[in-house]
Amino acid sequence: MIKNNMKLEIPSLSQNEAFARVVVAAFAAQLDPTIEELSDIKTAVSEAVTNCIIHGYENTQGIIIIECSIISTKIEITIADKGKGINNIEEAMQPLYTSKPELERSGMGFTVMEEFMDSIKVHSEVGRGTEIIMTKTFNSLPNEE
Ligand SMILES: Nc1ncnc2c1ncn2[C@@H]1O[C@H](COP(=O)(O)OP(=O)(O)O)[C@@H](O)[C@H]1O
Ligand SMILES: [Mg+2]
Repeated sequence: MIKNNMKLEIPSLSQNEAFARVVVAAFAAQLDPTIEELSDIKTAVSEAVTNCIIHGYENTQGIIIIECSIISTKIEITIADKGKGINNIEEAMQPLYTSKPELERSGMGFTVMEEFMDSIKVHSEVGRGTEIIMTKTFNSLPNEE
């Protein structure tokens, strides 16, 4: 059974959104995912990291912490910022809800994460930051090591 983990800390620069999604996909590759499963993970990571940059830090500089762990065929991805936090998590997770309509945000980030991952949990505290924990179990069995 595979058991593995990694931690990545990056500044909240927009160019790190693509970097983060590729790193998580590369880590997930050891589970021998399908192209579609990999694409789902990349999309979810992309949405979560973009939220840290745009909402958590509101384009000021902060740190984004990404942790991934693999246990057997399941990957757990935690994406956290120490930014402004979310006042009402339930409202924030509603499809089409956005606190920044002026930026033409779609308000579909959380909906996309829920759609493409098996589970998503959100912990947040106003003024302290936000942590998103997402999991996905892959269909294919990884090679035994
Ligand atoms: N990391 C975060 N820090 C602070 N607020 C957040 C964070 N992630 C999401 N939010 C809040 O949740 C809302 C919904 O997020 P999302 O579904 O991705 O839509 P969008 O990013 O298009 O606004 C955001 O508008 C914002 O108010
Ligand atoms: Mg979003």
